[in-house]
Amino acid sequence: MGIYFDEEKKIFKLDTENTSYLIGLTGEGYVGHIYYGKKLLRTGGRYLLRTEKSPSVLKREKSSFLDTFPMEYPTCGVGDYRESCLDVMNPMGQTGCEFFYRSHEVIEGKPALKGLPASFGKAGETETLFIHCEDPVLGLWVTLSYSVFMKEDVITRSVKIENKSTSTLVLDKVYSACLDMDNRDFEMVSLAGSWGRERRIQRSALSYGRKNMSSVRGESSHQEHPFMALVTPETTQDQGEAYGMHFVYSGNFMAQAELGQYDQVRAVMGINAWQFSWQLLPSESFQAPEVVLVYSDEGLGKMSRSLHDFYRNHMIRSPYVFKKRPILINNWEATYFNFNTEKLLDIAREAKKAGIEMLVMDDGWFGKRNNDNCSLGDWVVNEEKITTGLKDLVDKVNEIGLEFGIWFEPEMVSPDSDLFREHPDWAIGIVGRERTQSREQYVLDLSRQEVVDHVYECVAKILRSANIAYVKWDMNRQLCDVGSAVLPQNQQGELFHRYVLGVYQLQERLVTEFPDLLLENCSGGGARFDPGMIYYSPQIWCSDDTDAMERLRIQEGTALIYPLSCMGAHVSDCPNHILNRVTPFSTRGNVALAGTFGYELDITKIAEEDREQIPGQVEQYHKYNHLVQSGDYYRIASWSSEKPYDCWAVVSKDREEVLVTCVQVLASPNRNSYCMRLKGLDSEKLYCLEETGEIFGGDELMQCGILISGLSGDFQSKLFYFKSVETM
Ligand code: DGJ
Repeated sequence: MGIYFDEEKKIFKLDTENTSYLIGLTGEGYVGHIYYGKKLLRTGGRYLLRTEKSPSVLKREKSSFLDTFPMEYPTCGVGDYRESCLDVMNPMGQTGCEFFYRSHEVIEGKPALKGLPASFGKAGETETLFIHCEDPVLGLWVTLSYSVFMKEDVITRSVKIENKSTSTLVLDKVYSACLDMDNRDFEMVSLAGSWGRERRIQRSALSYGRKNMSSVRGESSHQEHPFMALVTPETTQDQGEAYGMHFVYSGNFMAQAELGQYDQVRAVMGINAWQFSWQLLPSESFQAPEVVLVYSDEGLGKMSRSLHDFYRNHMIRSPYVFKKRPILINNWEATYFNFNTEKLLDIAREAKKAGIEMLVMDDGWFGKRNNDNCSLGDWVVNEEKITTGLKDLVDKVNEIGLEFGIWFEPEMVSPDSDLFREHPDWAIGIVGRERTQSREQYVLDLSRQEVVDHVYECVAKILRSANIAYVKWDMNRQLCDVGSAVLPQNQQGELFHRYVLGVYQLQERLVTEFPDLLLENCSGGGARFDPGMIYYSPQIWCSDDTDAMERLRIQEGTALIYPLSCMGAHVSDCPNHILNRVTPFSTRGNVALAGTFGYELDITKIAEEDREQIPGQVEQYHKYNHLVQSGDYYRIASWSSEKPYDCWAVVSKDREEVLVTCVQVLASPNRNSYCMRLKGLDSEKLYCLEETGEIFGGDELMQCGILISGLSGDFQSKLFYFKSVETM
């Protein structure tokens, strides 16, 4: 049992293995937050519910009560001046709402959220609490849901709004979760970046006022990430407290922490209210997406491991989640648009010899697409390039002994395309205004069911036509000119969210019709790498930047919150196409091994000494990938935090095996070796280093460390694989 209700004290206690979350009800029915943190043995806690100024005690100061009270779901306009989670406009155009507890229920397991990606769990793994609240003035009901995932120390939250009145109400803001706490000198850890350098970790102290990460780009974005952690100043990888909040959503979001006048912190997360409004007719409801909450009192490392387990066990539905993915070779950096059947078959033949298992045909196989200025939307095979047709190509690749994968960018349309010429109104745009191009393309209006149906049929038709095992689903621009040709004036504010629902519907249909398909999401690299997308695809392309050194940072930031097995990572050719940097082929391989692993180069053209290394890398992948897939991740050293080297380890759940990767980013003069203290081993066990046969104690490896030596220059790297042995 993870959820308890103390009838007498009116306290809900939500327990995971190591954490507790306490909610209290006031006499008036306000749903207040009491505590979130390390597990408590007893309910206790009611003294922390700040009821001293509650309206039934001091009606004349209701506003100062609302402005201080730690709320589970704060609302707008009636006296709480901090950030609200719900803004509702009545038929008069006035904004204000206030909710009171009416009832609750607890169920085993967790129901799905209609139309949205969301975590799942069976009875015994999770329990869900629903708290039903009413605004009697508006006739609006709010159900707050809390699902407790015992083993992973995760609590997920979401909110459903129901209009039980006879009038139309307008939701101007619906966030999904709030966490009110007293400040403990909190600092915010978040992920920020740009195209080619996604998800770099940043950290800074809160100061009075509001600090946020957000997106208004129509996708979760390269720039800011729907995640934040509040950490105490002493928090490191291995110690200190961390409160993580992660949004299961792929569109505009808001993640905000506000430090207020009474030194209280309010952290909120949800769909960005910018250009959002939702018309709620009588008896309609609105389901807000889910927020994942995680608490660790053993630093950021423990937070990462809890999230990794949670996403692997309860978010990624793909049958591939715990399977070794085929090692693929993708032709994008190999050929860009300049390829044909023969070229692809040459790559496939050479790849087969090296042990590669799948060929992925990237952008440029359809319409008249020989560069990026046309044909998106025309999903018809270009038989000038794919001369004998797609089925024949796929069959030939299969005969060579490789599986076949294909690229799509289904959400887009080129101005120069038959689709756009036929249906110009299917592209998102504002009446009378020339649409803004980005990569010379427009975005399809996926709020329209006929557009979704058309797009789906285009993709499905191709997949039905040949033996296609993998799809890379790309999205190469962000949304602007956000207008729909069909939504009425008072519903245009729904377009951003309806667009995301359209994407979810498309991917849901795809994985339903093709349950064995390996789907990889992508958005100009990693602009839509979020928990929503991993519900549909077990892996996402991390970044267009395949330079091994940049990848160290990108993958460190990504691995802070996502399992390594989600991270699309390939070995590419050098000089790197984005940075011109030259790194050793072996290091490129070692860095890509931390993710899904594959190649993104012309194997028929690369240097012989590089090609010769591929079979060895393939062997390493087969040998170690089970650790990457399901092991515990430990960050040991970080180049991005000023160390000249980067180091991480994956440890099997039974602590029997560990794979350590160490990359010397910058060599130092007059320094031969350094010590790297491992983490997460069993101090009582003995471990054998595969390379030398030397035996070490787990305690020795953790307390003294391994000696890194012999890395002679910049960008050199080394793998260490240890396996436990019975005796010396
Ligand atoms: C962006 C992706 O991230 C690349 O890998 C490649 O698929 C291109 N789009 C193709 O246009």
